[in-house]
Amino acid sequence: MVLFGATGDLARRKLLPGLFHLAVAGLMPEHYRVVGSAPAAVALGDDEFREHARDAVAEFGRSKPQGEAWEAFEATLGFGAADPEDPQPLLDAVRRAEQALGGRPRRLFHLAVPPAAFSSVVGLLGDTGLAQDARVIVEKPFGTDLPSARALNATVHAVFDESRVFRIDHFLGKESVDNILALRFANGLVEPVWNRNHISHVVIDVPESIGIEGRSRFFEGTGTFRDMIVTHLFQLMGFVAMEPPTSLRAQALRDEKEKVFQSLRALDPAHVVRGQYTGYRDEPGVDPHSDTETFVALRAELDNWRWAGVPFFLRSGKSLAEGRHLVTLGFHEPVLRMFPLDAGHGSGRRANELVIDFDDPGGITARFLAKEPGPALRLENAEMVFRYAGSYDQQFALEGYERLILDAMLGDQSLFTRADGIERLWEAATPLLDDPPPVEPYAPGSWGPDSIRRLIAPYRWSPQDPR
Ligand code: BG6
Repeated sequence: MVLFGATGDLARRKLLPGLFHLAVAGLMPEHYRVVGSAPAAVALGDDEFREHARDAVAEFGRSKPQGEAWEAFEATLGFGAADPEDPQPLLDAVRRAEQALGGRPRRLFHLAVPPAAFSSVVGLLGDTGLAQDARVIVEKPFGTDLPSARALNATVHAVFDESRVFRIDHFLGKESVDNILALRFANGLVEPVWNRNHISHVVIDVPESIGIEGRSRFFEGTGTFRDMIVTHLFQLMGFVAMEPPTSLRAQALRDEKEKVFQSLRALDPAHVVRGQYTGYRDEPGVDPHSDTETFVALRAELDNWRWAGVPFFLRSGKSLAEGRHLVTLGFHEPVLRMFPLDAGHGSGRRANELVIDFDDPGGITARFLAKEPGPALRLENAEMVFRYAGSYDQQFALEGYERLILDAMLGDQSLFTRADGIERLWEAATPLLDDPPPVEPYAPGSWGPDSIRRLIAPYRWSPQDPR
C-alpha cells in the first residue's frame, strides 16, 4: 500500500492509527508493506516515518504503539518521496517493499492529498506504470461542482478503470450506517412501513459542536455544503431511501443508491438556509468578508414512487450546540384521533419516530405513545431503545476509515461512491451553487439561524431540540 499524503493531517489522525488497529485486529493481509509518500520538500526517511507513525498512533489511535504488535507493524513501514519530475525515490521504495514481499504483490494507492495535487499524483502513477493492476482509494472532495467532478473522474479514468476506484466517504463505513441495511432488509417489522404511506418526513441531522479547528484554508474554499452535505449526508440519504437491492453485492447496492440520486429533485435555493457562525470571519486565515457557509439546512425531495411528497430535511454545521449523528423518520398520525390532544400531560406528545443514531457505536430508538399508569386514559411519550454499546462484543468494531480501507484491500466496492452518482449529485446541486442564498449569522453554541424553524415546520429538528 502506498499512502500519498503520509505526512498530512488525515494520515496522522485516521489512516496510520487505522492501519495499525487493523493490524492489531488481525485484519491486515498476512504479508504487506506500507510505503508513505509525500513531495520531496516534506519527505521523511524510513526511520523518521516510523517515528511519525508512532507519534500519530500514540496521539490518535485506539491501540497503543507498543509491544510485539507495534514492532511488527513498524517493520512494514517505509517511505519514498514522489514529485512528478522525480518519482525515483518512490519507485525505489515500492521496489524494495515488493522485493521483501516476493511474488507479485497487489498494489493499493491511497490518495490522501489536496485536490490541487490530485491529477499530478494520478499522472505519476500512470506514467511510471505503478498503476498497472492496482486499486486506488480517492479522498473527497470529489470535485466542487459538476464540471470539476467530471474533469476529476476523467483524470482518474485515464489511468484506473472504475472497477479499481474506491471513492471513500467515511460515513458509509460507520457501523450504524451499514446497520440501516440490516434494519430495513432483515426485519419484517420495518420495511413494510418504510415509505410515503407511513412516513411523513425524514431528518438527517449532523450538527457538530467543533468549529473549523484551524482548517481555515480548506474550509474557506469548501464550506459546509461541499464538505458535509454532498459528501456525507446525501450518501446517507441514499442508504435510507434506496429500494431493496437484488443482493448485497456491490453492483446491486450501488445501482439502488445511484437511483436515489437520479430521483433527487434539483435543489431549490428557496429551500436552503446557509449560515455562518459569528466570529468565523475573525478566525485566522478567514477572509473578513467571507461568504463561506459554516452551516446548511435544506429540504430535499425525491421524485420516485416510494418517497413522492416526503420531504427530507438535512442539517449540518460547525460550532453548534451539540454534536450528533441522527437520522429520524417521522410517522404519520393514525387516521382517527381517539385520544384528545390535551389529555393529561399529552400536550408535548409526539407523533411516532424512529431514530437511528449513527455515532460510534450508535443505536436505534423507537418513540411512541403509551398509556400513563392511573385511572385516566392519558398518553405519554415512551421509547424502545437499542444501543450498540453493551449489546454486542465490540472487539471487532471498526471505525469508518478502518472498515473502508479493509474493504478496498478486499476489493469490495459496496460502500464506495461511483462516478455517475457523484456527478448526479453535483448536477442536482447546480441551482444552489449558481444562486446561493446569502449566509445568515448564528451564535456559536446555538442550533443555527432561526429561519431553519420555518424550513422544517410543521416538523422539528432532532428530538432533543426544542425547535
Ligand atoms: C469530515 C469533514 O469529512 O467529516 C469534517 O471534512 C467533519 O469537517 C468530519 O468534521 C465529521 O466526521 P465525523 O465522523 O467526526 O462525524
